[in-house]
Amino acid sequence: MKILVTGAAGFIGGNYVHYIVEKYPEDEVVALDKLTYAGNLETLEPVMDKIKFVKEDICNREAIFKLFEEEKFDVVVNFAAESHVDRSIEDPEVFLMTNIIGTQVLMDASRKYGVKRFHQVSTDEVYGDLPLDRPDLLFTEDMPLITSSPYSASKASADLLVEAYNRTFKLPVTISRCSNNYGPYQFPEKLIPLMISRALDDEKLPVYGKGENVRDWLHVKDHCSAIDLIVRNGKDGEVYNIGGNNERTNLEVVKTILKELGKSEDLINYVTDRPGHDLRYAIDPTKIETELGWVPEYDFDTGIKQTIQWYLDNKSWWEKIISGEYQEYYEKMYIEKGR
Ligand code: NAD
Ligand code: TYD
Repeated sequence: MKILVTGAAGFIGGNYVHYIVEKYPEDEVVALDKLTYAGNLETLEPVMDKIKFVKEDICNREAIFKLFEEEKFDVVVNFAAESHVDRSIEDPEVFLMTNIIGTQVLMDASRKYGVKRFHQVSTDEVYGDLPLDRPDLLFTEDMPLITSSPYSASKASADLLVEAYNRTFKLPVTISRCSNNYGPYQFPEKLIPLMISRALDDEKLPVYGKGENVRDWLHVKDHCSAIDLIVRNGKDGEVYNIGGNNERTNLEVVKTILKELGKSEDLINYVTDRPGHDLRYAIDPTKIETELGWVPEYDFDTGIKQTIQWYLDNKSWWEKIISGEYQEYYEKMYIEKGR
């Protein structure tokens, strides 16, 4: 099988390439990435001799069509996206370009060159949020899409477009909607690696609002195994939610990290809340568990310990990132805003 993985130098795309190369050495993997601020070729370094890497923008129609003509992919797995909610609030436009138009370009090329499965990696954020006082409510695949941030609106738009291409053009598609991921190679602007890297440097940890918002955490490897099952065994046109029943408040997550690192809770700094901040995400994974037999490997308590250890063992991976352009972003988002 020949697979195109887009967004392959990012957090989840990179982990997925590692997963596929290890599990299916006979598969041919083409890893594509524009290498935005979030893309890091070092993430692919350990598997570089087993894949082909292409630096390209998924919005570049001409280049994408040329690549599809040359490579004749069987499967496309689209991870490429602008992915950070806070950045989408600062500057939505690139989110609409990459997340919607980029998806359209990939699907047009998939139609023209007979791709057998186009898999769209989406997010549970397309369902909006759930109340904090209704633990009985979970996201199911048939819920309406009601979005809160420009990021989630762009991902929901792409999902609708994917469904439209399936119905109108009969493009074979699947969509997965996963909860928050954590694990190796996550860019340190997202909650867990941000808190680990700052705590290690004894810097203040910016917790939005009261830290009571709830996220449903899944180890990235479990996300990869779920996507793999969907790509190979999922039904054409179907949506699958992915989540491992690991709901935690942000404060619980931050305190777990501090405890694990032996640091004081005095580092916690409550800052101005994110505008439109979604209260709670929680996935009902019944469909993927019963129809495809997916079983996650990690519970949060084990996974977070391993992840912290990974950041301790791989300081050079993230230290380079936080010393560069990212520093300016941090100052703009947290210091200039008085956070
Ligand atoms: P990421 O920001 O770490 O990686 C995104 C990658 O896409 C980067 O390498 C970037 O360079 C690349 N990219 C951006 N614009 C591009 C373009 N125009 N052309 C080609 N490449 C481009 O994000 P991530 O956390 O790895 O998320 C991957 C996917 O999974 C996204 O679609 C996201 O919506 C979805 N998702 C993420 C989470 C999560 O918790 N991180 C949860 C559910 C779903
Ligand atoms: P994030 O990792 O940005 O993922 P998402 O917004 O897609 O869920 O944030 C996870 C949660 O952590 C979210 O409720 C916002 C919160 N958060 C903070 O409290 N402080 C921070 O500095 C960041 C980046 C996030």
